[in-house]
Amino acid sequence: MGLVRDWNADAYHRVSGPQVAMAAAVLDRLELHGDETVLDAGCGSGRVTRLLLERLPQGRVIAVDASPDMVARAREELGGDADVRQADLAQLRLAPGEQVDAIFSNATFHWLPDHDALFAALAAALRAGGRMSVQCGGEGNVAGVHAAALQAAADCALGDRFAGWPRPWNFAGPEQTEARLRAAGFADVRCWLQAWPVTPDEPRAYLETVCLGPHLERLADDERGRFLDAVMARLGERPLLDYVRLNVVARRG
Ligand SMILES: C[S@@+](CC[C@H](N)C(=O)[O-])C[C@H]1O[C@@H](n2cnc3c(N)ncnc32)[C@H](O)[C@@H]1O
Repeated sequence: MGLVRDWNADAYHRVSGPQVAMAAAVLDRLELHGDETVLDAGCGSGRVTRLLLERLPQGRVIAVDASPDMVARAREELGGDADVRQADLAQLRLAPGEQVDAIFSNATFHWLPDHDALFAALAAALRAGGRMSVQCGGEGNVAGVHAAALQAAADCALGDRFAGWPRPWNFAGPEQTEARLRAAGFADVRCWLQAWPVTPDEPRAYLETVCLGPHLERLADDERGRFLDAVMARLGERPLLDYVRLNVVARRG
């Protein structure tokens, strides 16, 4: 789990309105009878998991996230009986006989560097014929935000911190994702990109918590504030963030 970072779960819970809005259509594409067991792959603070649970009055959710802070926040959000597990999705191993009927995931897959490993682990977790509905950052996602962040770093004399930086996001395209999913044993695969511009309610807190966490990890505590100020100066007080989402629907063959 070396590449997995922790999150500020309380801040994420507060500012993640855009992710909740994105999740609605992803949930709608997962046809459920209400009695299934569904994996929420990358449950975060549990805000979206709660919406999934509302569709499963006789069913259950196995919610998985790598971040200890997110797992703790999701347990608080969903209550003591909730099945929330801390694990790296690329190494997920459910117990024998525990295969799920469906997989849901929102705003998570782009944080995993190895999609072949991820899809192999998810295929093993899903029963034959089970469906998956996913949305994550896709090719070109927040490219303008990231360009502005690098320019802002230069503006405040922190550009050297990002020289040769191997960026941590995996914003995949639809064709390569379809091929990877088929190779992992999925059928009826459909992947497509969707532009989804976002203007967050609290832009500075949103950027700090959601988009720029990996940037901030590269800076000292006393450098972070001036970097965020410089990003805000570049993007403006009411920025339009250039989200591009990769939608995925598939069935386990
Ligand atoms: C933007 S949040 C999305 C959370 C939630 N699905 C939502 O829509 O609000 C991304 C989540 O992916 C989780 N994540 C990142 N890499 C992961 C990995 N390798 N395994 C499991 N979870 C991971 C993070 O900890 C974080 O909670």
